[in-house]
Amino acid sequence: MRDRFGREIEYLRISITQNCNLKCIYCSPGGSGCVHEYTSYLTPEEIEQIVRSMARVGIKKVRVTGGEPLTRADICEIIQRIAGINGIEDLMMTTNGINLDKMAEKLKEAGLNRLNISLDSLKEDKFEYITGGGKLENTLKGIEKALDVGLNPVKINTVLIKGVNDDEIDDFIKLAKARPLEVRFIELMPIGKYGEQNSDKIIYNSEIINARPELIFCEDSTKGHPATYYTIEGYKGKIGFISPMSHKFCDRCNRIRLTSDGKIKPCLGSNGEEDVMEILRNNPEHLDEFIQRIIYEKPMRHHFEQDFSSARNMSMIGG
Ligand code: 5AD
Repeated sequence: MRDRFGREIEYLRISITQNCNLKCIYCSPGGSGCVHEYTSYLTPEEIEQIVRSMARVGIKKVRVTGGEPLTRADICEIIQRIAGINGIEDLMMTTNGINLDKMAEKLKEAGLNRLNISLDSLKEDKFEYITGGGKLENTLKGIEKALDVGLNPVKINTVLIKGVNDDEIDDFIKLAKARPLEVRFIELMPIGKYGEQNSDKIIYNSEIINARPELIFCEDSTKGHPATYYTIEGYKGKIGFISPMSHKFCDRCNRIRLTSDGKIKPCLGSNGEEDVMEILRNNPEHLDEFIQRIIYEKPMRHHFEQDFSSARNMSMIGG
C-alpha cells in the first residue's frame, strides 16, 4: 500500500534476534558484545501471523536479519513459514556468513531466495579486528556455498571506515570481476556509539566513484533498493553504492522494519516504534488495521544530519 507521501511500501525487514556471534566495532553495543539476555522474541508462529497481515496490506518482499539470524535454532522453520505465505514473492536474508557453509543448503530448501553477506575486510587480521574475533575463512566459505547452492544474487555489504579498511576498496571491487557478486559500499551511519562518534571516518561514496572512471553507471538500477549500481567492462558482477549520508533516498524508501521484540519501526533514521506484539497477543482482530496505520504514517525522511541519536544499536535493528 502507499503511505501518505505516495511511496509504495512493499518491503519488510524482520530482525529475528539481537544475538550475534560477532562483535563488529560499528554495530555491537560495545564491550558486552552482541549477546543480549533478552528472551521474549517473536516465535515463528507470531512472525508468520504478522507477515500474513503485512502481506494482506501489500508487503511483497521480506528480508530476515538480526543480530545474526543464523544464531536462532529455529531459523529454517521461520524461513519456511514466511516462504509459504501468499503474496510474499521474494524472501532474503542478511547474514555475516559465519555459519552459512553448514546452513546454505537447508535455507535454500526452506524457501530462501537470496542473501546479503556482510564483509568488511578481506584480510584475516583486520577481519578479526573489525568483527571482534571472527574468522574470515568462515565467511568466505559461506559465500562460496551460497553461490554453489544457487542463492542468487549474492550481495556483499561493506561498511568502509577511514583508516580501518579504506585501503581495501579496490580489492572489494575486484570481487565482482570473476563472479556474479554485487559488492555494495554502505556509508557509515550514526547508529550506535561508534557511528555517532566517528563521523570523520565516513568514506563518501562519491569519492570512490569520482576516483575510478572505469566504473560504468548501470541505468535504471535504483528501483526497490537504495543502492546505485555500476559495473566495469568485463566484470561479471556489479558494484553498488548505498549513500545514506551523502544522498538521502527517503523519497524512494519502500520499507518498514519489525524488531525481534515485536515492534514495528517505520524508519531507520527515526526512533518511533509501535508495539505490534501487544496487538497480536491481545487484539489480533485489529492487526491489519494497526499495520495499515503505521505504514500510512511512515515518517517522510531520516535526520541523520541533525545530531540523530538512535535508541537502538544496529545489532537490535538489523540494518
Ligand atoms: N552504518 C552503516 N551500515 C551499517 N551496518 C550495520 N551498522 C551500520 C552503520 N552504523 C550494516 C552491516 C550489515 C547491514 C545489515 O547493515 O554491515 O551489512
